[in-house]
Amino acid sequence: APPYETIVVERKGRTALLTLNRPEALNALNLQVMHEVVDATVALDRDPDIGCVVITGSEKAFAAGADIKEMRPRSYLDMYLSDWFTAWDRLGALRTPTVAAVSGYALGGGCELAMLCDILLAADTAVFGQPEIKLGVVPGIGGSQRLTRAVGKAKAMELCLTGRTMDAAEAERAGLVSRVVPAGDLLAEALSVAETVAGMSAPVAMMAKESVNRAFETTLAEGVRFERRLFHAVFATEDQKEGMTAFVEKRPPRFTHR
Ligand code: CAA
Repeated sequence: APPYETIVVERKGRTALLTLNRPEALNALNLQVMHEVVDATVALDRDPDIGCVVITGSEKAFAAGADIKEMRPRSYLDMYLSDWFTAWDRLGALRTPTVAAVSGYALGGGCELAMLCDILLAADTAVFGQPEIKLGVVPGIGGSQRLTRAVGKAKAMELCLTGRTMDAAEAERAGLVSRVVPAGDLLAEALSVAETVAGMSAPVAMMAKESVNRAFETTLAEGVRFERRLFHAVFATEDQKEGMTAFVEKRPPRFTHR
């Protein structure tokens, strides 16, 4: 719980901005960072006044990976019994939409953290990679799975086997990031995207997120069936009436936020 030592959480209207703050280690993700990020985002997820969470780092580093110095001496049993990194799964399971705003290094666990978010925006300075192999390990926060789903086998295999990095332009071409913006505009752009999302119907945004995520977990026929059920369900909300009425009346909608 707060006060946090390795992150800063600010509220801007219905958006929360979570900034990783371990500059001395390029935001390396040690256990304290993991627990603080998870604790803070789980609390924000429960807060009806928050409709979107932006996660960012510094200009130089979103996060340079999991903390190598912390992991170095551990044994197999240390890692297994503490189920190292499992808490990160809770970030991917949030219902509130999340935006990663990546400037500078997003390597190893940093790239994995960005991929745990729903929308990934990159500054033109962003550098992505899964260089774990150079340390004699493999990715541990889902990188081999999410990178492969995002960019396909060809690039994922090359990145995971050689440890080479991708710049922002390559990451955009490969489909890892939704957009690249000039570094100076990154935060404003991420907050603007978040504000847009947070202005939508909160339950409908959750359903949209859930539906897109389902595409990664099931067959096409089952995924379409899942979407169809959600589509029918939104007609039980006032927001469907409000959204469609506002269109007909040529005015902006006033959605409820839970
Ligand atoms: N863990 C711990 N400390 C780290 C770190 C990490 N992942 N990345 C950087 N740091 C520390 C450095 O040790 C250094 O600390 P000291 O000043 O005390 O020596 C400080 O941050 C600044 O880093 P550099 O001096 O190295 O900065 P640079 O500008 O010369 O290089 C860099 C930047 C290329 C990102 C380089 O820091 C680097 O290669 N970092 C490691 C990247 C990496 O391998 N990440 C994967 C980690 S493993 C992992 O993430 C497992 C998983 O799947 C979850």
